[in-house]
Amino acid sequence: MLILAIDTSADDTSCAIVNGRKVLSHIEYSQILIHKQWGGIVPSIAKRAHEERIDMVIEDTVRKARIKLDDIDYFAVTYGPGLAIALEVGIRNIKELSTKYNKKIIPVNHMEGHIYSCFVQNSQGNPFNDFKFPYISLLVSGGHTELVLFKNHIEYEVLGETTDDAAGEALDKAAKLLGLGYPGGPVIERLAADVKNIDTFKFPRPMMKSKDLQFSFSGLKTAFYYYLKTMSEEEKIENLKLLVSSFQEAVLESLLKKTEFAMKQTGINRLTVGGGVSANMRLRKILRALVKKHNGSVMFPPEKYLTGDNAAMIGVAASFKTNKEYTLNPNADLDRVPRLTLSLV
Ligand code: KG4
Ligand code: ZN
Repeated sequence: MLILAIDTSADDTSCAIVNGRKVLSHIEYSQILIHKQWGGIVPSIAKRAHEERIDMVIEDTVRKARIKLDDIDYFAVTYGPGLAIALEVGIRNIKELSTKYNKKIIPVNHMEGHIYSCFVQNSQGNPFNDFKFPYISLLVSGGHTELVLFKNHIEYEVLGETTDDAAGEALDKAAKLLGLGYPGGPVIERLAADVKNIDTFKFPRPMMKSKDLQFSFSGLKTAFYYYLKTMSEEEKIENLKLLVSSFQEAVLESLLKKTEFAMKQTGINRLTVGGGVSANMRLRKILRALVKKHNGSVMFPPEKYLTGDNAAMIGVAASFKTNKEYTLNPNADLDRVPRLTLSLV
């Protein structure tokens, strides 16, 4: 069963062809260089860049999979959450394809894609790992930070989420304050590793005492901002690595503590992690230590491209949504839902 999937939820124009969990081809055009100069994603520029590239991205994906569009069984697309005018580009294109080839549409929630990213396989079917429900899924990206109970295929319950900034967003903002460019997460990871992730400044960890699974990063960001104000430019440069290392530790400890709290609350010791921040090796290390302590297991997206936004994870999630209740006829109404949550799948 072949599925062609598109994701245009943010700044990547991405298309993939999957056969079940196997990715036959995946092409992604990243707009990061265009947005870098603005220090973040500019929606109108993202929309135009998606429009300019999408036909080429689809053609290349089909060619690379050595198939014809006639062979596709379903057309899947991310319909939210994301930037409204960016999502629209993917939806419009998938509607045109499904109408032309008279095949059904499978709308996919971008966050369920990130959940399934841990289970994506290459064209050879590797890595092979069966589902062992239930899981706790930690989703950490530039737009989202949430803990989800992944009960079974297409069955999710949001346990907690951020009340303000996302973890990746906090890292991006800290990097911006220090003139480190966008995206901040990877730069901070590198600089922090140089000082062995030492936590010199002990910035505040918000919501640690709250007995729930909500996150908050804006207080940390504000504390960081005011701390930098007390430093001269020379001091900032001198302490750059220690500053970002301490900041990263504060963010990661919040993720760690809330994840552990979710494990204790639910009695589930199997974790999956997804989203851009899941590329972070320091995060992977502390989560591996966490599950070891609880005799559990943790899965990460098996390849780097699967941590960030990509259509492969959308296609794989769609392969579990071929039931009638999840599919739409080619001419059906499908609108973008920029604030779509996992409870609305
Ligand atoms: O999932 P993603 O590509 O896009 C969405 O936000 O949906 O995530 C991007 C976020 C950015 O905030 C970026 O700084 C962060 O993921 N990120 C990282 C790393 N790589 C990307 N954060 C920490 N460490 C990394 N290695
Ligand atoms: Zn994402």
